[in-house]
Amino acid sequence: MEESTAQGSGKEPLYDRALLLHGRKRNEVLTLNEVQRYGAESFSDPDYVRLYSMTPPQWYARGVRLLGRTAVECTRDPLADLIGRDIAAIAASFPPETKFSVIDPFAGSCNTLYWILHDVPCSRGLAFEFDPSVYQLTRQNIADLDRPIELIQGDYNVVLDRLDLPTHDVLIVFVAPPRGNALDEIEGLDLRRTEPPITDIITRLASAYPDRRMLFAVQVYENVNVESIAELKSKVDWSTVKNYNLNVPGRNHGILSASRGWRP
Ligand SMILES: C[S@@+](CC[C@H](N)C(=O)[O-])C[C@H]1O[C@@H](n2cnc3c(N)ncnc32)[C@H](O)[C@@H]1O
Repeated sequence: MEESTAQGSGKEPLYDRALLLHGRKRNEVLTLNEVQRYGAESFSDPDYVRLYSMTPPQWYARGVRLLGRTAVECTRDPLADLIGRDIAAIAASFPPETKFSVIDPFAGSCNTLYWILHDVPCSRGLAFEFDPSVYQLTRQNIADLDRPIELIQGDYNVVLDRLDLPTHDVLIVFVAPPRGNALDEIEGLDLRRTEPPITDIITRLASAYPDRRMLFAVQVYENVNVESIAELKSKVDWSTVKNYNLNVPGRNHGILSASRGWRP
C-alpha cells in the first residue's frame, strides 16, 4: 500500500501500482521477475516485497505466489514487523496468562497477521478474505508457515456472525481495508472513505462482541483526516497514533491503536 516513485520509459510497461493494482496484472499471478521489477522500478529495490521474513527469491522458491494486486496491497515485512511489536507492547498490559484471538478481516497476504502472531504471546489468528483468487493463493502461501492462522473465505461482515471465539480471549483486530479513494494528498486518509469505511468496521466489530475487551490496530497514513479521526475516537475508550519513518516524509504509514472495554 505504498506509493511508487519511478517514471515510465519506452514501450515496456512500468511495473508500478497502476499496472499491478488497476491494470492488466491485477488478477494475474506474478513471476519472480515481475515481483522484482515492481520493487526495482517503483522503489529502486528488487527485494522490496519482503513477506513472511523472506526476500522475494526466498519466498518464491518456497512456492509463495502473489497476484499483482496483492503485491501492491500487502503490508511488507518492515512495516508489519513494527506494527506487530507495537501491538505486542500494548497487549503486554494484560496478565501473562491472557490468550488473544487476533483477527484480520481483510487478509490479503496475511503478512501482518503473521508478524502480530510472532510478537504477541498466546495468540491465534483468524483472517477473512472475500476475493476467491486471493483467498486460494494465500491459503497455499501460509500453509507451511509456523503460525496458527485460520483463513476463512467470505465478506468480513458475514463471516463475523459465524465465528465461535473462545469465551475469555481478548480480541485484537488489525484493520487495513483497501483504501479506495480515501487518500487525499492535502486532507490525508479519510477513515470514513476506505472500502469499507474504517469507522463502520470498528462499529461493526464492537457491536458483534459487546462484552469483549478489544484492541484495534488501524493501519493509517502519515496524514489522516482530522474529522474522521475524531469520529473514530468517539467509538472507543482509548486511542493513540504512531507514525513509522520507513519512507520519505509525507509518504509514511502509521498505526492507530484503540481499545474498547478496557484501557492500557
Ligand atoms: C489491503 S489488503 C490487506 C493487507 C493485509 N492485511 C496484509 O497484511 O498484507 C485488503 C484485502 O481485503 C480484501 N477485502 C476487501 N473487502 C473485503 C471484505 N468486505 N471482506 C473480506 N475481505 C475483503 C481484499 O480482497 C484484499 O485482499
